[in-house]
Amino acid sequence: MNFDLPFVTLQQLALRNGQDKPEVWIAYKGLVYNVTHSRLWKTGTHYEHWAGQDLTDELVDAPHTDGVFSKFEPIANLVKK
Ligand code: HEM
Repeated sequence: MNFDLPFVTLQQLALRNGQDKPEVWIAYKGLVYNVTHSRLWKTGTHYEHWAGQDLTDELVDAPHTDGVFSKFEPIANLVKK
């Protein structure tokens, strides 16, 4: 939780899936990241993983650690309900 950041709901996150709105967002461990400018998340897909969701539990499938998030600043807290 970062109280300096706004809060985003799962519904708001879901619209940033690379299909419905121009921005592409993903959530990881309670924080929301804007990956719109990553060529690896273009159109909202990343090796069969979809943006617009909380991907915390899917990181185990990745060949990389969560160090990949270090170059992104979180834009919001995810409200889980
Ligand atoms: C089959 C599953 C996955 C594969 C094969 C995969 C592959 C990759 C590769 C090759 C990169 C390039 C950089 C690197 O290797 O360090 C990358 C970056 C990244 N991945 Fe994954 N990934 C997978 C799943 C995930 C999941 C589930 C998440 C989110 C929890 C994720 C988040 C990211 C992020 C944020 C980046 C950085 C993008 C950038 O720097 O532009 N990946 N991934």
